[in-house]
Amino acid sequence: MEKLRHVLSTKQFEDPELLEYLFASATQLERDDAARMLPDPLRGRILAAIFYEPSTRTRFSFESAMQKLGGGLITQENASDNSSAAKGETIADSIRVIGNYADAIVLRHPVEGTAQEAAAISSVPIINAGDGVGEHPTQALLDLYTIQRELGRRDNLRVAMIGDLRHGRTIHSLLPLLCLAPGITVDLISPASLRLPEKYTDHLRDHRIAFTEREQIEGVLEAADVVYVTRVQRERFATAEEYDAVKDIYRIDRRTAARMKEYAIIMHALPRVNEISPEVDSDARAAYFRQAKNGLYLRMALLKYLLA
Ligand code: NCD
Repeated sequence: MEKLRHVLSTKQFEDPELLEYLFASATQLERDDAARMLPDPLRGRILAAIFYEPSTRTRFSFESAMQKLGGGLITQENASDNSSAAKGETIADSIRVIGNYADAIVLRHPVEGTAQEAAAISSVPIINAGDGVGEHPTQALLDLYTIQRELGRRDNLRVAMIGDLRHGRTIHSLLPLLCLAPGITVDLISPASLRLPEKYTDHLRDHRIAFTEREQIEGVLEAADVVYVTRVQRERFATAEEYDAVKDIYRIDRRTAARMKEYAIIMHALPRVNEISPEVDSDARAAYFRQAKNGLYLRMALLKYLLA
């Protein structure tokens, strides 16, 4: 299998061998970690994490992953204010320079396409940790890994995706990955103004994936194997009024969860706002905190693959 240099989009992960390799490696690393037997294949290597948008899980799990594998870090949160970007430096110049100090760069930026641009001039691998309303490939990899672990398969599934499908980059990245397995049906549930952009529905059509689009959750929860809930992305709205009009349309609570199948799972990339009630957390089907934990091991596997 040909080795990837950058991780920019899940469209790069069409090779089933690569997915199997990463998933098996993540599981092994979790075992080694539990036994306190982790190897340190990244000793002497440095990861730069530069985040122009807020993050909790993505940045911390990458940082933890790098250090657990023996590597070191240079890291910047709030990079719009705290890096030379505040003085007017271009991303291209920043990336060129950081490439001298680090062996790979994890980049989150509000503008779609920035990771691609960075990769075009970078001397070291670029990992897209979210490019605006574009993609978030490492989240989608850990999401697919979670589905595989929780349900024991990633084919023949009915997947409901609920919320802000227009701006939700985790959805944009997960759909192409889901499409790789046979027997997938997707129910897309959003307000009309937050529908999945056409380029992604086109992708579903091109791959002959059965899908529905609707505004109500009624009728989909009962059939779903995976209920993937998303946050309405407040930071992508031009006005507070536009956000307020759609922010509380969907809510999974104990009553709605009761309509789901016994062996279905509820996923969310987090952070959640009001879309999943905390009373659901104790339901065994609530997989979102396990999903966040899987992110650590999947990112360890990915760093090891890229850098060891
Ligand atoms: C997501 C993101 O940043 O796109 N968060 C994450 O990385 N887990 C989802 C979100 O912000 O709603």
